[in-house]
Amino acid sequence: MQPISFFTSSWLFQAATSLNLNVTAISARDGSSTLECWQMSEPFDTSTQPGISGTAQVSLGAASSLTYSIIPPNFDGGIHNAPENQWVIFTSGLAYITLPDDNTTSAYISGGPFGLIFAADTKEVSGKGHRTEYPGITETVALRVPTADGKVPEHQVLHSGPCSISEIAGIREYGLPA
Ligand SMILES: *[C@@H]1O[C@H](CO)[C@@H](O)[C@H](O)[C@H]1NC(C)=O
Ligand SMILES: *[C@@H]1O[C@H](CO)[C@@H](O)[C@H](O)[C@H]1NC(C)=O
Repeated sequence: MQPISFFTSSWLFQAATSLNLNVTAISARDGSSTLECWQMSEPFDTSTQPGISGTAQVSLGAASSLTYSIIPPNFDGGIHNAPENQWVIFTSGLAYITLPDDNTTSAYISGGPFGLIFAADTKEVSGKGHRTEYPGITETVALRVPTADGKVPEHQVLHSGPCSISEIAGIREYGLPA
């Protein structure tokens, strides 16, 4: 006999092993920007917030501001540093990130459920920064969220280069209908 779905979904979440969010980060080493796959140290936990109680959540820390940007199709943002340590959440469109000092590594970030990145290549740590182009045929919508006090969230570097789809698709596990 099947348990009713309300219990099934919260049981599924608690039964799962600890899951951590992985995000592609624009970081820096030896004065040059890099792309890395970061695993957030804070694991997902279970929300008790009314409306989403029993579902998976993870805190991304405190933010200092929130900006909504609309970038036209085929826009070249040029080479620039992250203005401050910040989350960028692409909700639609397409961003293409390249590195002026490393022409072997690049990342396509699609707007949507896998559109979260962290940008940390500020002027203090990277001489040139990175280049972002928006090669899509639609606008790209991005939310820019600098962290409070410029804090870089606690993380572990999984590897250099952007996270692969298999490293970010784990969130689907918690999005499946019970
Ligand atoms: C990549 O960068 C290296 C070092 O700067 C350079 O020698 C090489 O020509 C570049 N390759 C391409 C395809 O741009
Ligand atoms: C993050 O990466 C680890 C190690 O590759 C993986 O086990 C985990 O499922 C990933 N998390 C997500 C949300 O995909």
